[in-house]
Amino acid sequence: MYPFPHRHLLAIEGLEQPYIADLLDLAESYALLNRQGKTQRDLLKGRTLINLFFEDSTRTRTSFELAGKRLGADIVNMSVSTSSVNKGETLLDTAATLNAMQTDLLVVRHGISGAPALLAQKVDAAVINAGDGTHEHPTQALLDALTIRRRKGRLEGLTVAICGDVLHSRVARSNIHLLLAMNSRVRVVGPPTLIPAEAARLGVEVHHHMKTGLKDADVVMMLRLQKERMTGGLVPSAREFFRFYGLDAEKLAWAKPDAIVMHPGPMNRGVEIDSAVADDPARSVIGEQVEMGVAVRMAVLDTLARGLRRNA
Ligand code: NCD
Repeated sequence: MYPFPHRHLLAIEGLEQPYIADLLDLAESYALLNRQGKTQRDLLKGRTLINLFFEDSTRTRTSFELAGKRLGADIVNMSVSTSSVNKGETLLDTAATLNAMQTDLLVVRHGISGAPALLAQKVDAAVINAGDGTHEHPTQALLDALTIRRRKGRLEGLTVAICGDVLHSRVARSNIHLLLAMNSRVRVVGPPTLIPAEAARLGVEVHHHMKTGLKDADVVMMLRLQKERMTGGLVPSAREFFRFYGLDAEKLAWAKPDAIVMHPGPMNRGVEIDSAVADDPARSVIGEQVEMGVAVRMAVLDTLARGLRRNA
């Protein structure tokens, strides 16, 4: 195990392979403890974790909260509707307040790409990006990778098809960086309007048809159509989108017979994914993704807290 060289976890881009592998190994051990119902309540004892969410979230916020509690941290949830940010307080005023409260770990979700990185420059706490705009969502990519590794035994050499609204997806961006760092082959699949222009430069294959995009894929990762981030008419209609890009049993048959199906949630059933596929225990690992989310966040909190001790 290498000492983790970063104070914060703001992105997967730039995180070197051995540290990703270490985080996954540590998360794997937490997954095991969680299944055995064991907790480690002394590890973060006396540490304060603040969940600062400027955007809605169900599973990510809950998952960080549970992870922190299992490690014994004191946790406060601040969501935008209850904070004074609504009253015009700037992000930097918020940072000063958090510093005065001697926060150790700060989990931030924000609608603007780069907001957690800006906060990280102004607070003493270790900052974890829980999703910023369309930029990155590093813990989601780690939990996806852990889920894949558990099911497939490895990441290297796998073909992963990331499908749908790649343009607006911070999940896709973090996954692309992580999977490429771990030597997986990555394809993005979607209509030209929903594939970012820089996709090819990132080193992924671009496909506009599900049939070619899913061919021989080991992993089919579906993304939510993010209507709240769309400005123009990027997709004709939900029904039309489903016809061409929605994952159903017929399209899944184009992938490898043992391909697994993933979705970060929340799902638009009948838009990007058919319920019959999402709920098929033989193919879907969506529940396991949520389970691994807690284990991965425990590993991240544990790792960054160790850094705080080292730097104290
Ligand atoms: C994602 C997010 O918020 O980036 N959800 C999540 O964290 N599980 C994806 C999404 O909103 O579609």
